[in-house]
Amino acid sequence: MKRILILCFLAAAVLSACSPSKEQGQKTKVWNVASIQVDGHPQNEAVKKMGEIFGQLTNGRYRFEVFPNELLGPQRETLEQVQYGIIEMAIMGNPNVSSFEDGFLTFEMPFLFDDEAHQRRFFTTSSLVEKLFARTEKYNFKIVTYFTAGTRNMYAKKPIRNLADLKGMKIRTAESDTYAKMMKALGGAATPMSFGEVFTAIQSGVVDGAENNEASYSSTKHYEIAPYYSYTRHLIVPDYLIMNKKLYDSLSAQDKQALAEAARQAADYEVELWQKDAQERLAQVKEGGATIVYDVDSKALQKAVVPLHEELTQNPEIKEVYDAVKATSELK
Ligand code: GCU
Repeated sequence: MKRILILCFLAAAVLSACSPSKEQGQKTKVWNVASIQVDGHPQNEAVKKMGEIFGQLTNGRYRFEVFPNELLGPQRETLEQVQYGIIEMAIMGNPNVSSFEDGFLTFEMPFLFDDEAHQRRFFTTSSLVEKLFARTEKYNFKIVTYFTAGTRNMYAKKPIRNLADLKGMKIRTAESDTYAKMMKALGGAATPMSFGEVFTAIQSGVVDGAENNEASYSSTKHYEIAPYYSYTRHLIVPDYLIMNKKLYDSLSAQDKQALAEAARQAADYEVELWQKDAQERLAQVKEGGATIVYDVDSKALQKAVVPLHEELTQNPEIKEVYDAVKATSELK
């Protein structure tokens, strides 16, 4: 009900589009941004900062309003809201984007990036990124920037140290076929569902556990019902800030430039916040009774997904991105 009210409010806001600003009769346009993350999450903070920078660079003609906590709905719904211009922007997980364009499936390959620094290097230096991002524009949404979403680890009511521990376990994943294949290769089974449904699913025993970064493990309070967080480090998947394509096209060249600069600074800021936030979150979950498991046989897990890499890279669109990712690796 709350969501319907907010959406009605937003629809009305789209019709009126702007509000008067203090500056010489200019209008301040408010861009609404959907996020499933809690207040204070590095991505929400980065988007707020981006709004401030964009506002400054355009003499206060734009302002961002972030709606956290899935207030506007799960990511898939907010992606549609962006496509239809009901809202201007949303923070989006990779699986929602890869369902449109196969190249993005590459980022859902387990043990793809060496570490988070490698992911950052790829997204900030590879010439393929811009081309890849441009491929979503035909679906009426534009990727404004990538954001790190850290490293994903598995958690459950018991520690997961090796393949034997995972055998037969039902693990919630985001909605992606690649994740289902990954869990199968690791000996478990994936139960796909949206982010907001996971707590109840673990609590009621529909799944045995889930997998996510420290920020989400902590903010969702999953540690209270799945208190073993095992450093499997199996996925380093990005998130994105997306916006309505028509809205982007309607901006002047100068405003597009201001937006790109604000996005660049926001992405740097988010990465900067991420590490510190992850450490704080870890301390928080430990205090809340969680046990952190570091001695995971990650090599065995990596070996188990080699056939999956071989299978996925048969797809030329995945292979193109895969090769570009590997070209930015610093490992020999
Ligand atoms: C993280 C990630 C989201 C993703 C979520 C999930 O929070 O940042 O983009 O949707 O995990 O597992 O659903």
